[in-house]
Amino acid sequence: MSKVANLCAIFATLVLNCAFAEVYGPDNRSYECFSSSDCFPDECCTLGMHRYAYPTCNELRGLGSSCRPDNDAITFTQAYYPDGTTLNLTNIYTPICPCSSGLVCRHGVCELDQNYIRK
Ligand SMILES: *[C@@H]1O[C@H](CO)[C@@H](O)[C@H](O)[C@H]1NC(C)=O
Ligand SMILES: *[C@@H]1O[C@H](CO)[C@@H](O)[C@H](O)[C@H]1NC(C)=O
Repeated sequence: MSKVANLCAIFATLVLNCAFAEVYGPDNRSYECFSSSDCFPDECCTLGMHRYAYPTCNELRGLGSSCRPDNDAITFTQAYYPDGTTLNLTNIYTPICPCSSGLVCRHGVCELDQNYIRK
């Protein structure tokens, strides 16, 4: 928890929703994210493939991790739940996050991007 709090302190100026990394849906339930911007900078918001999956924050895929080619962000989509809740989701990935910056997905594995220029 304190590690998370420290990270929050560091990123608080960058990430508005950092404080408790929670957002509230139309049903007043708390969700981890509706958008990748609700997550830490090294995470993305994903929606699992299974029915009625809830969006969650997950880490970007590291070097050597499995990945999906052309796993681009979905700009806008909606998720529906049996209780009638509809979530508007933006900048979300399914079912997994893309590779971290500086990496590219090649043959299903995150590899170093030769074209990447370190900032
Ligand atoms: C939403 O949840 C919060 C915290 O549990 C509660 O204080 C608030 O009254 C709830 N609002 C509605 C509209 O149910
Ligand atoms: C969700 O998106 C729909 C379609 O664009 C819009 O009509 C609706 O107002 C949005 N709801 C919320 C809570 O933003």
